[in-house]
Amino acid sequence: MAVHVALTGATGFLGLRLLRRLLETHRSVTVLAHAGSGDALHRITRFFELTGASTAFTAALPARLRVVETDLARPRLGLSRQAFQELADRIGTLWHSAGSINLEGDLPELRRTNVEGTRHVLELAAAGRLRPRVHHVSTAFVAGARRQGVAYEDELDDAHGFENAYERSKYEAELLVHAWSKEHGRPVLVLRPGILVTDLPPHPELPSHPLQVAERILRDARHTTAPALRTEAPESRPRVRMVGHAHGRLNLLQVEHAAEVMVRLAGRTPSGGVDTYHVVHDRDVPVATVVEVLERLVPVSIELVDAGPDTPSALESLLDFYPGMTAYLAHRRRFDDTRVRARLGPSAASAPLSTDYLWAGLAARPWTVPGPPGQLADLSPAGHCV
Ligand SMILES: NC(=O)c1ccc[n+]([C@@H]2O[C@H](COP(=O)([O-])OP(=O)(O)OC[C@H]3O[C@@H](n4cnc5c(N)ncnc54)[C@H](OP(=O)(O)O)[C@@H]3O)[C@@H](O)[C@H]2O)c1
Repeated sequence: MAVHVALTGATGFLGLRLLRRLLETHRSVTVLAHAGSGDALHRITRFFELTGASTAFTAALPARLRVVETDLARPRLGLSRQAFQELADRIGTLWHSAGSINLEGDLPELRRTNVEGTRHVLELAAAGRLRPRVHHVSTAFVAGARRQGVAYEDELDDAHGFENAYERSKYEAELLVHAWSKEHGRPVLVLRPGILVTDLPPHPELPSHPLQVAERILRDARHTTAPALRTEAPESRPRVRMVGHAHGRLNLLQVEHAAEVMVRLAGRTPSGGVDTYHVVHDRDVPVATVVEVLERLVPVSIELVDAGPDTPSALESLLDFYPGMTAYLAHRRRFDDTRVRARLGPSAASAPLSTDYLWAGLAARPWTVPGPPGQLADLSPAGHCV
């Protein structure tokens, strides 16, 4: 009998790509959707339509996806005792990709979704009579506020503190995974991606990604403080001093590639305990490149400085409300992914990430459905113009 797979977070930026990969090898998938957050089947179908899937593929989705409405934050995922047990007993593999990636969220809120949510997902796995395999999506950023040096796959500690509550919540979720694996004598795959990016342009029906969020914050702050400035001439761009390192670098990885690597790692024989992998790009992107792309989108001029300005402008003060995010401009660390390369070999390496790729995933443009060339959808992401 084929192993039945369930996935949390299937409507998310990464979850949609994981779902695409899982549907390549599974006839059906149980989607543990976010209750009260819109029609998951419709959202998933729109993603596939917008990314060039065939009509036959999307027409088959209602029969291939079983949607169960859940809430990570609630005991038994908000299900009745009976529904919880029935769900648990059907699952052979449980992918947990749902979570809150709100870098500015407060700790209690993030704990509810990311820590308690993971606890409830692990309880589902513990209850299942098939002893489902658990694949937990974490983040490379559990490395916390360590800004230099190398972060290794077998490290999990809070010695450096955390840049924001999101990182801490994901760290605490990993601690739970370790405790659960030990208590139940069960294997768990922990996947720690870097910052995920795409070259698909923004679209109102697709989930946003972290760089898009950064761009939006910058744009909103700039509009709030300088609404009269409409020209994009370089000399009239407000100057923004942000704390960062001239040689800073960030690990950005194509989301499609991340999903492919994750599914391939899930196919490897587990050690029996917790197997943790850094799903990262082998080359970091200079912070200067990210800044350059953001400056092309938002008419500001960003200057990286060692310390925050004594007399910040209104725009700088506004951006100062996002220290948990802007801290990344000072990062120079590297993520070691020896284990991934040892398991998957050179094919684990992703294509180089160009400035054009990053630009494509942020700049509004007429929507073109990939696939048959020249096929245009009737939707324009006009709401996303800067
Ligand atoms: N994006 C990145 O760059 C990145 C990098 C490293 C690690 N990660 C990790 O990758 C995972 C997926 O991230 P993502 O980028 O796909 O995030 P995302 O686009 O924000 O998607 C989050 C998913 O979780 C679901 N969800 C949120 N709260 C829920 C709740 N209370 N109950 C049930 N489902 C809930 C969302 O459903 P709705 O959309 O319906 O709310 C959505 O499907 C997360 O664990 C994240 O920590 C992401």
